[in-house]
This record gives sequence, C-alpha cells and structure tokens, in this order.
Amino acid sequence: MRFIPSLVTMAALSGLAATSTVSQGAHGPSSSCRQVSFALPATSENVVFTNPPDPNNTTAIVSFLRAVWGGTIPANFSSATTTISGTFTLTGLYCTPSRLTASTPLEILVHGVSHNASIWSGLDFSPTGYYSWHKYANTRGYATLAIDRLGHGRAPTHPDPFSINQPSLQLELIHQLFSAVRTTGSPLNHAFSKVVYIGHSYGSFTGVNMARLHPSDLTALVLTGFSAAPDFSSAINADWVSAADFDPARFPGQPKGYLTFSSPSAQTQFYGGSYDPAMPGWEHTYEDTISAGEILAGTGDVGSPATAYTGPLLVATGANDIIFCGADKTPAECDAIVAGSNVLFPNVPDARRGVKGGFEYFTVKGTGHNFMLHYSAPVAFRRVHDWLDRTL
Ligand SMILES: *[C@@H]1O[C@H](CO)[C@@H](O)[C@H](O)[C@H]1NC(C)=O
Ligand SMILES: *[C@@H]1O[C@H](CO)[C@@H](O)[C@H](O)[C@H]1NC(C)=O
Ligand SMILES: *[C@@H]1O[C@H](CO)[C@@H](O)[C@H](O)[C@H]1NC(C)=O
Ligand SMILES: *[C@@H]1O[C@H](CO)[C@@H](O)[C@H](O)[C@H]1NC(C)=O
Repeated sequence: MRFIPSLVTMAALSGLAATSTVSQGAHGPSSSCRQVSFALPATSENVVFTNPPDPNNTTAIVSFLRAVWGGTIPANFSSATTTISGTFTLTGLYCTPSRLTASTPLEILVHGVSHNASIWSGLDFSPTGYYSWHKYANTRGYATLAIDRLGHGRAPTHPDPFSINQPSLQLELIHQLFSAVRTTGSPLNHAFSKVVYIGHSYGSFTGVNMARLHPSDLTALVLTGFSAAPDFSSAINADWVSAADFDPARFPGQPKGYLTFSSPSAQTQFYGGSYDPAMPGWEHTYEDTISAGEILAGTGDVGSPATAYTGPLLVATGANDIIFCGADKTPAECDAIVAGSNVLFPNVPDARRGVKGGFEYFTVKGTGHNFMLHYSAPVAFRRVHDWLDRTL
C-alpha cells in the first residue's frame, strides 16, 4: 500500500476534531465501560545490557533498538540478570456485558508495538463502534479488560526503557493481574473464574510466554496478528524517533528510550487488503511507543516453545499480514504459515484431529496486521467468539 498524503491530512484534521468527543459511547449500549487501575507487586529477573546507548542520545538509541531487534546485540548481552522488584500500576479499560454472572468469561486484551489499550476500541475511529472489540465481545456476553502495557497509554510512569521495562517484568505483572481478577477484591469488584488471554502482535508473544511460564493462569489463549515465522524487517527499518522529541505535548517528559514512528508511512506496514484509507493516518495521529528493553529477545520472548501449556489455543491473523507472513506471500501461503504456529505449543493437541479445546487457527481475507482496524473486523471478532463459545 502506498501512503496517500491528502487522506492522511484529512485523518489528522478529523482526529483533532475528535479528541474532544472521544467517548465510551462508541462501545454501544450493550457495554458499560470504565477506566481501571491495578497496583500490582512484581519481581522479575531482567537482562543486563552490557553496552547500552547514551539514554539522552536519540540517534544512539535508535541504532541500539534496531540492533536489538535485528538480533545483532545478543552477542553483547551478559548472561547476568538483575532482580527488579516493586509495585507497578497497570491501567486499562474494563467493559462489561449487560448481564454479568459468576460464569461470565473475562478477556484480558494485550496490545502490540506502537499501540496501547485503545486499539481494542478501534482507536475510536468509528462513532458506531464498528471496530470495537469490546463492543462486539460484550454483545456476545464476554467481559473485556484491555490493558495498557507498562509504560504505555495511561500508565502513570515510564520506567527505564532499557533496564526496567523488559518482557519479563511485563509478564510477571500480567501474571499478577490474572490472579487479581479471580478475586472479589480487585478493582473489577467481580471474581472471574474463566480468564482468557487475548494478545495482538507483541502482546501475542507475551501470551506465548504466559503459556510457557504460567500455563495454569489461562482458561484459553488467543493469539492475533501472529505466527511463529515473523519478518520484522519493515518494523526494524521504520523511521523511529524519541516520542518526547517527536511530540512533547503527547509524550511529555518520557525517557528518550521510548520511541515512536515519525512519519505516517510507517503505519502502512500494519495494513493490507481492504480498509478505510484514512485509517493508517488516523493511527499515526494516535500512535503510542516501544522501547529497546521491551523488544529484547534475551528472555525467550520470541521462539521458545510453551511446552507446559496443554489448554485451548486459537491463532487468528490477517491473510495479508506482511509482518507475520512476509511481504512476498500469497494469502494461501500465509494460511500455511499461520497453520504452523503450533510449533510453539508442542503439547496442545491439534483440533483438526477432532480434539475439542485443541489448537485451531484461521486467517482473515483481505486483512493486514492490525486486523481490528480493517473492514473485516466484525468477521474476525465473530469467528474468535464462535470459537470461544465452543471452547469454554
Ligand atoms: C540525561 O539528561 C538528563 C536531563 O537533562 C540528565 O539529568 C541525565 O543526567 C542525563 N543522563 C546522562 C547519562 O547523561
Ligand atoms: C549520539 O550518538 C551518535 C551515534 O552513536 C554519535 O555519532 C553522536 O556523536 C552522539 N551525539 C552526542 C551528542 O553524543
Ligand atoms: C558489543 O560490545 C563491543 C565491546 O564492548 C563493542 O565494541 C561493540 O560495539 C558492541 N556491539 C554492539 C552492536 O553494540
Ligand atoms: C493511546 O492511544 C490513543 C488512541 O490511539 C491515543 O489517543 C492516546 O494518545 C494514547 N495514549 C497515550 C498516553 O499515548
């Protein structure tokens, strides 16, 4: 897809108009939504970078991010880890269906790179809630909690983007969250007995790690915008810039190691097939960040199998996802790649052999990486919830 400047300008202008009217009405009358915040204790073993960049030098930081992501930095990781321990705040948008019972399942929704919790609200692009996962799920009787990963969205702090904000700490926080929502004492005021992890992109890798390290937390696992054979070259080579330099009003005082895309053309890697041409520009206007510490592969974030997990697993990915299938692949080739995602789950049985609650997958026609921001969104939402209905 080529970047169309006039449409992006239009999106930017309508974005300005929309900031004052963004409301939870977009989730529709069947949802009741509120912002929530959890204070969670967590301890993790974080990797020590032996040769981190000057934390105030954006050029050096961007090179470091690219090297980490491209896999050239691991030679420089020490085998040393350091223990990080503290209480951290996870923020999120919590939406409930009109009827909440003891058996209502809760979906915990975990976003990807350059996004925050709002991607599950379809970035409030449509006032009808057409792209809202919450609205759809609530209509189907599921409660939803879309979290901001540590350091993103409404998160009150931006921990050191190299040494502290790493996948292992994020994982332990989400593990604590899974325990909390099963109790009546949490900010949700409801003890959920069925808790489903639903990740998108980076959030799906965290889901693999949840299944690897905390398998009994998960009633079911749904990985979207995902495969076991990603090609991150378009993301690595994108025009990264320190968010605080790029837009100080939106990212005031954030450490320079929190990076974002400086040009709207970067967002086109997230689209493919059929979508509103104003959507990529709209996304650029509201983009969030990523840090080198979060990308760090040294904790098995990419590629380590979740051998301990034997529960239900669904993988759902756009058939035109150039990051998780590759830019040169046909939809049929993408389907075969997504079908192979269970290589990371050697002990989840294959549902195609008639095993209920095993591994299933589907690809969504005419759809790129941010599947929830394409015209097909309601179809993808329906297929995931049909699977959940059958599985839980
Ligand atoms: C980075 O800049 C901040 C603010 O100017 C300063 O306090 C800090 O000491 C600098 N850090 C390094 C390592 O130079
Ligand atoms: C920032 O880092 C770049 C790349 O490592 C280096 O060339 C440049 O001299 C550094 N700038 C400052 C002010 O230290
Ligand atoms: C790895 O460490 C060596 C020695 O400290 C350094 O010269 C080299 O630049 C580092 N490589 C990267 C990619 O940071
Ligand atoms: C989170 O994303 C929303 C929508 O994309 C955006 O409006 C908002 O600015 C982001 N929040 C932060 C703190 O970056």
